[in-house]
Amino acid sequence: RRVVVIGGGTSCEHEVSLASAAAVTEALTAAGHAVAALTIDRDGQWRDHAGRLVGLAGAVEVLRSCVAVVPMLHGPGGEDGTLAALCELAGVPYVGSPVRAGALAMDKWATKLIAEAVGVPTAPGILVNRARTAAGAVTAPLPAVVKPVSAGSSYGVSLVHDAAQLTAAVEAALTLDDRVLVEEVVCGREIDLAVLGRPDGTRTVAPPLEIVTGHAGFFDLAAKYDGSARFLVPAPLSDAQLGVLREAAVTVYDALGCAGVARVDFFLTDAGPVLNEVNTMPGFTSHSQVPRMFAAAGVAYPELLELLIADAVA
Ligand code: DAL
Ligand code: MG
Repeated sequence: RRVVVIGGGTSCEHEVSLASAAAVTEALTAAGHAVAALTIDRDGQWRDHAGRLVGLAGAVEVLRSCVAVVPMLHGPGGEDGTLAALCELAGVPYVGSPVRAGALAMDKWATKLIAEAVGVPTAPGILVNRARTAAGAVTAPLPAVVKPVSAGSSYGVSLVHDAAQLTAAVEAALTLDDRVLVEEVVCGREIDLAVLGRPDGTRTVAPPLEIVTGHAGFFDLAAKYDGSARFLVPAPLSDAQLGVLREAAVTVYDALGCAGVARVDFFLTDAGPVLNEVNTMPGFTSHSQVPRMFAAAGVAYPELLELLIADAVA
């Protein structure tokens, strides 16, 4: 069956997305699928498998020649619902979350409001924009984490310890988004959960993964991709901790209206889980968190991809 895998994109996670798309393409090809690859350049231009510029109309033609789209785009301009919207308009089934869930999950402020509304705690935080910085220096309880509302892979994220660093951190985050979150630092273990929603309404949660960073600080951009972080799968958790995390993950997944697989990231504190963020198109190389978690559940990487495609066309 012919499927199209899309990689690249205009977000700062372009390279990460290319890696996910390459790994998925390789696995699907090995499994006997005819894969039509499409790549979105950093400037938004579409290219076919041979690197030829095809334009949006050409890309839509490729989408329509396939039974399903596997949109391996991370970050704004893909994971935020834009690619889902294109597939909807083109009338082609696609893997993953629909427009609304992608848009909500890409917006860390919207995610926070929704999570809190359904009883899943998040870090206390404030929203800052240009108008706010123009009105005077931003103040917040320190230490704080400063992050663009919509980004990924920790691009533009800073850990701030003193007031002098806060302005620079907000400015840095404002280069990636026009809204920035300044959040209290949450002390806890970093635990990721992968939720797989099936069209029949069943939800499968893979064994959670714990991130143990080799760096002081948080699971930042360097720690994500320099190989220094260790993943513990399954994370060592009590039955009670596991139960609370699983319930919180599924609650948030459903409140946002996700589909396919989403990775719901928490800090596990002494007072329970605190939601960090939701990735509706998480990293998807064979050694990324989601494939590692499903492997621990006995679902191999190619099998997980087959399942996602089958559900997309169901
Ligand atoms: N945003 C990166 C790709 C992840 O969630 O894995
Ligand atoms: Mg993310």
